[in-house]
Amino acid sequence: MDTYQPADFWEKAHAAAPADDINLGLGIHYVGGGVALRDAAALYKLRKLNLGRVLRKKRLPTRPKIFELGSGGGFWVEFFQQFEPQKFVGSDLSLTAVQRLSAKYRYCDFVHMNPEMNPWQEVAEAGPFDLCMAIDVLYHITDDTGWNDTLLHLCRNVTAGGLLLIADYFYERLVDRPSQVHVKFRKMSQYLSILDKENFAIEEIQPIFYLLNRTITGPFRDHTRFMSPVLRFAVSNPIALKLVTRTDSIITKFARPMNPSCTTRFLLARRVS
Ligand SMILES: C[S@@+](CC[C@H](N)C(=O)[O-])C[C@H]1O[C@@H](n2cnc3c(N)ncnc32)[C@H](O)[C@@H]1O
Repeated sequence: MDTYQPADFWEKAHAAAPADDINLGLGIHYVGGGVALRDAAALYKLRKLNLGRVLRKKRLPTRPKIFELGSGGGFWVEFFQQFEPQKFVGSDLSLTAVQRLSAKYRYCDFVHMNPEMNPWQEVAEAGPFDLCMAIDVLYHITDDTGWNDTLLHLCRNVTAGGLLLIADYFYERLVDRPSQVHVKFRKMSQYLSILDKENFAIEEIQPIFYLLNRTITGPFRDHTRFMSPVLRFAVSNPIALKLVTRTDSIITKFARPMNPSCTTRFLLARRVS
């Protein structure tokens, strides 16, 4: 039986994508949501818009030091260049991803998060950071001990007064064949209890999607059986997709942070000491 072996899984996913996907500005095909490019573009548009809303309220320090876990196709590497970081350290579990990113962003550093090579030591030596982030990465760590350790590493590489940024599907969902699934969603409370122990205070929680909210395990299963086919059609039709994306951009501006229909959220926390 196939089981989820993260290093193999992600290496194969990246290696299967054409090298020049990295220039699309949409992450990597099939790695970052959205099956078609148009679909991926809509998802990244909403992520970017909602992160912009977070960062308008909580400004980053000038010339910050930034660490990103799981840089993938480099969407956020590109995005954060506007803050002129004095140092940007990206990373990935996939060596192919690290090599492609290193070739494109020569002024940044990228760490191969190969567990056998003590990668967190390398990260710590480059830190501490004003901002540590993991965007759509932590739910891919299905083993609870690995998830817990990774979150602790992220917290501990943030400088006092610095920020931790996470984007995740914050809810628990049972999956019928856990050994084969490359995601595990966890409740917000599981994150909060670790952040609390690590002396982080929550600054912002920002919903990312409403209609376009969905899990990787199936298209739009988060929605009712009436909405699901409508949304399935919408993502396959350029005009309908634009309409749905526009609707989500408005709803996520006004939705309450813990609106149950907006399970995908940015979580921004500050290290108190
Ligand atoms: C869904 S993609 C998100 C990529 C990027 N953060 C983005 O938002 O465009 C998840 C990425 O995390 C990487 N990844 C998965 N598990 C990881 C781990 N334990 N450590 C570092 N990277 C990991 C994968 O190779 C993949 O590039």
